[in-house]
Amino acid sequence: MRIIHNLDEMTETARGWLAGGSVGFVPTMGFLHQGHKTLVQAAHQECEISVASIFVNPVQFEESEDLIRYPRDLSRDLQLLSTTSVDVVFVPRAEEIYPAGFSTFVMPTSSPWAVQSAKGAGSWIYARGVATIITKLFQLVRPDVAYFGQKNAQQIAIVRQVVRDLNIDVGLRILPTVRESDGLALGSRNHFLTQLERRAARVLYRALLAGKALVDGNVRNPAEIEKAMIDLVVTEPVVNLDYVKVCHSDTLSAVDTILPGTMFMIAAHIGKVHFIDNIIWRGGTNWLL
Ligand code: PAF
Repeated sequence: MRIIHNLDEMTETARGWLAGGSVGFVPTMGFLHQGHKTLVQAAHQECEISVASIFVNPVQFEESEDLIRYPRDLSRDLQLLSTTSVDVVFVPRAEEIYPAGFSTFVMPTSSPWAVQSAKGAGSWIYARGVATIITKLFQLVRPDVAYFGQKNAQQIAIVRQVVRDLNIDVGLRILPTVRESDGLALGSRNHFLTQLERRAARVLYRALLAGKALVDGNVRNPAEIEKAMIDLVVTEPVVNLDYVKVCHSDTLSAVDTILPGTMFMIAAHIGKVHFIDNIIWRGGTNWLL
């Protein structure tokens, strides 16, 4: 496992891979968990060369507080990655990614990801931040395939838009959300919850499953399903619901009726932790849970 910090070294290395086979890339903001590990293992199995990046991207945070509070533990991350067969870990420095005088951002102008939360998450700052860093990382690593977990639906929608609009030659591979045994989606900050909060957090996946049950029972009205999901979440007082959304799984735009490809999204704050999760109906009995 080779660790690269320097941008020129990354560029040189990626150039050397051009004839060496396919490159699978897992971009992350670190504080890795089993979900990330699953992505790295898939990249290793499916591509000749596998790369993971760790970079807490300052420009996708709306509040500097959140950036400062974002959990970091590079040595633990490297330890976890050393148990995979990842070839390269790219850990660029913020001052090299955004040097003094940096002024070119990638700005998606439509808002299919405009899933507004109470705090305005899903805003243009987040979209611009993700679009900019992913474009830079794709330039530096030059992957053939980039891997994302289904949980980050908003991020995936942004990346998909950037790749399409800027003709970036990379395939996106979306893997199912990795969950704890009670259904809670794995996340870097799950273990910051108190016992009480952790127990309450189960309601998020239960709400998604309540939506699923209605669809399985032939309900096709998004408002009815959103209401049922909300009614369930509010039974847990420590869970601060941001939104539930029933939308198209690629564009994240709202739908009038439930069709195959519809996504059910939920976001909430529990204590200091922000949670997002989703499931997708593929049609019939086929669900991406
Ligand atoms: O998890 C993230 O936010 C990723 O690292 C990405 C998509 C590169 C944006 O920083």
